[in-house]
Amino acid sequence: MKKKVLLMGASGSGKTSMRSLIFSNNPASLTARLGATIDVEQNHVRFLGDLILNLWDCGGQDAFMDSYLSTQQSTIFQQVGVLIYVFEVESRNKDKDLEYYRNCLEALRRYSPDAAVFLLVHKMDLARSPKEQVLERKAEELRQASGDVPVTVYGTTIHDESLYKAWSGIVHTLIPNASVLSRHLAVLAHACNATEVILFERTTFLVIATSNPPAAPTFSAPPPLSSTPSSTGSNGFTSTSASTGTTSSVTATSQHAVNVPEPRETDPHQLVPTRYERTSELIKAFKYSCSRVREEFHALEMELAEFTAVLDELTKNTYVLIVVHDPTIETAALRMNIRLARHKFE
Ligand code: GTP
Repeated sequence: MKKKVLLMGASGSGKTSMRSLIFSNNPASLTARLGATIDVEQNHVRFLGDLILNLWDCGGQDAFMDSYLSTQQSTIFQQVGVLIYVFEVESRNKDKDLEYYRNCLEALRRYSPDAAVFLLVHKMDLARSPKEQVLERKAEELRQASGDVPVTVYGTTIHDESLYKAWSGIVHTLIPNASVLSRHLAVLAHACNATEVILFERTTFLVIATSNPPAAPTFSAPPPLSSTPSSTGSNGFTSTSASTGTTSSVTATSQHAVNVPEPRETDPHQLVPTRYERTSELIKAFKYSCSRVREEFHALEMELAEFTAVLDELTKNTYVLIVVHDPTIETAALRMNIRLARHKFE
């Protein structure tokens, strides 16, 4: 299943930078070296088994935009699954940006009326007033410009995890069986007596699904203890507990320390990311550090006084993170449950 994703917006608004961070695992500091995109750069990203994202990064210089809206209109705008339009938060050409946006929206409605539209108010790190206010004002302006087309607005910057929040939200709408995945994760969480279980896409580390989809509790709220030592449940997972006591070590395959994300509240304005996106960002940074010392990232285990966490490969395209607040549960048991759960997600 191939989904066409159009990435559009003015030249210099940050489209290629975000693509480079999310899909190529590059750090924000390297984006300053990127040149302007000439015409359209197409990429295919295999995302979860048979879902392929066909990403069209459309160079935003006026000459290219004019051509997308005239001679290339049918090529660019047909069969689009998602349009992501990027606006700079402090743009000097606000009126021109909005005019191009309206024209693109019109072309999209003509050729792909069912496409979902996501608007990114980008470079939020450069906002001159308080971020919430700026985003609220900008979102209102963009909703008005969108007329009756439903749009979802995110505030983003490459300098924090807000970019992961936006892209996880976007990609989530493209995954056909996200609710089934959440159900399987909930079963896995129950079998492990876990506080929560999170599924990440392997290359991008975007969050695909969680065991607590709506308003997730924080990491610091352990569930009631109910595990039975070494019992195999009807769901096929093993719920094993063994008395280990608590330790304070961080073990990773390449010996780098990773900070544990702080819990955060869910944010109605899509500005403050949750701990999930913070985790994505930290793991990506960790993977980048591994690659710099020519180590390959495989898995991560943390045993801290408050909780235990295991991050391991689940399928060819996914990683799973299990967080447990029960000190009697061994990481080996969690890994075994991951192995047993694998076939459910393939
Ligand atoms: P075209 O290819 O011409 O369409 O431009 P583009 O939208 O792809 O812009 P690009 O990604 O090349 O980014 C332009 C500049 O913006 C680069 O120098 C980036 O480092 C910078 N940039 C991207 N995202 C951010 C951000 O969130 N904050 C800040 N401060 N700078 C950013």
